[in-house]
Amino acid sequence: MPVDIVVGGQGGDEGKGKIAAYLAVKNEYDYSIRVGGPNAGHTIFFNDKIYTLKTMPGAFVCKRTKLVLGAGTYIITDWLEKEIALTGAANRLIIDPHAVIIEPRHTASERADARMMGKIGSVGTGLGAAVRDRVDRKKLRFAKDEPRLKKYVKDVPELLNKALAKGSRMLLEGTQGMKLSNLHGEYPFVTSRDTTASTFMGEAGLGPKYAGEVYAIFKPYVTRVGPGAVANELKDKKALSRFHTAGREVGSVSGRLRRVGGFDMDVARLAVSINSATRLAITHIDLLDGADVSRGIRSFSGAAKKFMATLEKVCAVYPYPKVALVSYGPGLFDVLELK
Ligand code: IMP
Ligand code: MG
Repeated sequence: MPVDIVVGGQGGDEGKGKIAAYLAVKNEYDYSIRVGGPNAGHTIFFNDKIYTLKTMPGAFVCKRTKLVLGAGTYIITDWLEKEIALTGAANRLIIDPHAVIIEPRHTASERADARMMGKIGSVGTGLGAAVRDRVDRKKLRFAKDEPRLKKYVKDVPELLNKALAKGSRMLLEGTQGMKLSNLHGEYPFVTSRDTTASTFMGEAGLGPKYAGEVYAIFKPYVTRVGPGAVANELKDKKALSRFHTAGREVGSVSGRLRRVGGFDMDVARLAVSINSATRLAITHIDLLDGADVSRGIRSFSGAAKKFMATLEKVCAVYPYPKVALVSYGPGLFDVLELK
């Protein structure tokens, strides 16, 4: 089936941007769609540059891929314009007329909400406030009403469905992760949307029958940038600092140091079943001992070997995904493909 989907299997920040970019270079998709809000930072190391994208799809790295923002995308226009300039992808950007503009009042009201910023630990972009206005049927600005974005606006569902009819292939890049889903996650310590594969399809304007491979992304440990449960949370300052420095586990939008816990099998099982994951992509394996694959060594030892063995339990969950990709460094091509 023509639409591959990238989803987060844990608490966000699993490396969806990097995996999306890698898959785009490898598969040369015709289209890549990103949905959700700018509270999600997807980081890509490409051509000696670091791209932290809050709105543009990671697939910008493949020059032939058209980049699409769906009706379920929430946009801060200033931020998007910066990313358009950074990626140089203006001529291949397409935006759904019903993508919502997050206005300064949304951001201000979220940031003034002590409970949202404190107890919930919101990133404070105003996504939640914009979603709330949409649910309340309040007056909103959509992409079609934004003069600075008008040139990119096209009927996305029509365009994508016509392209599918002609055999186009697509990558759908979701945001956040299993624990943060407003439907299936750890409410109230969640984001304002569902963050699973079927919802991403709907947010893009695609029906379920086109879903192809569903890549669930995991790290060998779990991070959470805000409050809420973290199983087996690491408290030792020295051990933590390695994650924050070598592992770059600092919020890419919020700048907060991420909390770190052990690999959570219950969350992983849930992520496989709810997303119907067919492939697992593991990132940050280089933070485990025994994962030095940089010199072409393709087998693991020590903690890395042990972790790869525990993944068998995740692969035993229906629909029985297989481990397809293992990322061992930040670079776009620091990826091992497993057969
Ligand atoms: P909000 O969606 O910005 O209001 O944040 C709600 C909760 O989800 C907070 O704990 C955030 O830290 C977390 N969160 C939101 N977006 C992301 C993300 O992209 N990565 C990791 N955590 C996130
Ligand atoms: Mg992130």
